[in-house]
Amino acid sequence: MRIVSIINQKGGCGKTTVSINLASALAGIGKRTLLVDMDPQSHCAVGLAVPEEQIEQSIYDVLISKGRGESLRLTEILWQISDGFELAPSSIDLAAFDQQMSGITDRENCLKSVLETVSGDYDYVVVDCPPSVGLLTFNAIRASTDVIVPVDMGYFSLHGLSKQLETLNVLSEQCTRKFNVMVLPSMYDIRTKMGREILAELRKHFSGKMFKTVVNFNTKLKEAASLGQPISEYDPVSKGRKDFHALAQELVGTDTQMHRTKLVNSLQDRLDAISASAEELLATVEKPKPTREQQRVMSPAAPAIAAPAPTFAPPITTPATAPQIAPEPVTATNTVAAQPVAEKKTLDMKIAEFYGTRQIGDAMMFVTLYPRAKSVQIAGDFNNWQPEKTQLNKVGANGVWQIKLPMTRGKYRYRLVVDGQWQQDPYNEMTEMNPFGEMNSVLYVN
Ligand SMILES: Nc1ncnc2c1ncn2[C@@H]1O[C@H](COP(=O)(O)OP(=O)(O)O)[C@@H](O)[C@H]1O
Ligand SMILES: [Mg+2]
Repeated sequence: MRIVSIINQKGGCGKTTVSINLASALAGIGKRTLLVDMDPQSHCAVGLAVPEEQIEQSIYDVLISKGRGESLRLTEILWQISDGFELAPSSIDLAAFDQQMSGITDRENCLKSVLETVSGDYDYVVVDCPPSVGLLTFNAIRASTDVIVPVDMGYFSLHGLSKQLETLNVLSEQCTRKFNVMVLPSMYDIRTKMGREILAELRKHFSGKMFKTVVNFNTKLKEAASLGQPISEYDPVSKGRKDFHALAQELVGTDTQMHRTKLVNSLQDRLDAISASAEELLATVEKPKPTREQQRVMSPAAPAIAAPAPTFAPPITTPATAPQIAPEPVTATNTVAAQPVAEKKTLDMKIAEFYGTRQIGDAMMFVTLYPRAKSVQIAGDFNNWQPEKTQLNKVGANGVWQIKLPMTRGKYRYRLVVDGQWQQDPYNEMTEMNPFGEMNSVLYVN
């Protein structure tokens, strides 16, 4: 039985989409497959139309029971999704797993022991992990034969990846059983130059550690999830379904024994290389480094600083006061490697070269890329979480959206609202969980 954990600390990079559809695709090629949801947000149940209100017991109860030496069996909580495809759902209780298990010996091996009880029943177990490295993710890693790191092709993907691999490297040292790590490009949009360049970077540094299969950006995947279906059911002829079928076949064909030790041992080398690339890319767009104070705040162990009370002023909209960004340069410079030309560019054009947030004097610039969106708004503690107050402006025909907001010094939390759907800013790596278990994007104004 192979146990494949889908891990990335970054939220919104496609973990749940990969988990659901890889599990479904494995079942589709005749592999008996169990999907285990280790994320308290329970998105696997939502994405597979398992009614949350009817989930009486979840993987939480089984893990806790194992930790306490009790006897709730995994088979008692499973939901059948289709032939050869079952789900062990999660529940919000999982968020308290770390606390509940404190002081219990062997608490990091609960999932491993639980899965050992069904080792004859499945060919594959796919484990969807939360966007954090805590006891839940560590349980998944300890149980795993394979780890898949989905990497979205966004601006911070390389940077996030280096952090992720560093963590995996540290954790792998604490595991007796070595696991195979593979990087999976997800939400790849071949039409964006940045996407193509990031994919090329990844291939350069991770040859042999990357799937040949790429999961393309495909809106059918999003639609399938919102209707509670794997892509194989929702649209069997879609690109998304083809990608996951190819991924399942590639995974089945991977000889983990051959790669395992060698790949884990070489993680550090690759990490150094990829970190260098990420730094280079970040330097190219001159993203200001966080201040010492911000770094302290970003460290998980550090106490939060009390931010000065933020004030909000109405947005300054283009063309009156926001930088004039011509459509053409935006297209031409959505690249990460045009250094000599970049030096000659005006400040405004440089701003257009990156997505995410950037402070300009006493205003904050938000730039993002949503080629298919009809409306992009922002909601945050600076506008009382009212997205209708702050509409981003579309710049050119390439799906770049931006707004410049005057903001006073302090720490702010926000989410983007794209065609009515709330989501974290995919180009801002600073996040924190909100009370609803979703990720808010975080920014600091100096
Ligand atoms: N390949 C893809 N194409 C289009 N949308 C995608 C793709 N992968 C994920 N998404 C969408 O992106 C959002 C975040 O994906 P999700 O799988 O929930 O990420 P995570 O589990 O890492 O937080 C979801 O709305 C999902 O439908
Ligand atoms: Mg998820």
